[in-house]
Amino acid sequence: MDKKLKIKIIIGSTRQNRFGDKPAKWIHEEAKKKDEIEAELLDLRDWPLPFYNEPTSPSMVKGGAYPNEIARKLAAKIEEADAFIVVTPEYNHSTSGVLKNALDSVYAEWNRKAVGFVAYGSVGGARAVEHLRGIVVELQMAPIRSAIHIPQPWNLLDENGNLKNGAIDSFKNTADAFLNQLIWWAKALRAAREKDAE
Ligand SMILES: Cc1cc2nc3c(=O)[nH]c(=O)nc-3n(C[C@H](O)[C@H](O)[C@H](O)COP(=O)(O)O)c2cc1C
Repeated sequence: MDKKLKIKIIIGSTRQNRFGDKPAKWIHEEAKKKDEIEAELLDLRDWPLPFYNEPTSPSMVKGGAYPNEIARKLAAKIEEADAFIVVTPEYNHSTSGVLKNALDSVYAEWNRKAVGFVAYGSVGGARAVEHLRGIVVELQMAPIRSAIHIPQPWNLLDENGNLKNGAIDSFKNTADAFLNQLIWWAKALRAAREKDAE
């Protein structure tokens, strides 16, 4: 068997009482069911980047030598990945500032890798995902068509703010197809990157 595809699942909300960790943990569990995948959660709370404010663009940085230490460590983590699952809220019809800032803070390490989105909001975070598709293309990433859109996430929580039992189970089939599509692109791009490095 090929070596496992390293997929990083990024939690795109850091606020207290966020919903975002719940679908992230759920898709992590779904990803673990796929033999081809070695998945890891990346919680942006663990990467408290400053608002991007460097004198030169990350696209000019070579070898991961970003001036900011947290950006350097994040870049090393991003470099490990073959593909990403970005879990995004919808804030004012776009993604979160914290996620956009993380995307802006690194460059080469995102390049030539597949990305799929898990989104939530009143209309399933659809508007956040449409913005993100444009953003990630600029980072030379390949956004896959399939995405998971969870509508009205606030209705899925019990009185303690926990996911009601089985609240996202109806997305299992979608998750399976989504992960298969991500695996296809991740494999194709890994092969292309490896050929390029020969
Ligand atoms: C600043 C802000 C803006 C929001 N704007 C939208 C929006 O445009 N569309 C939407 O569907 N939900 C919107 N919401 C509601 C979020 O979908 C909901 O609060 C969700 O739980 C946010 O994700 P999080 O809990 O993981 O941070 C907004 C929430 C916040 C805090």
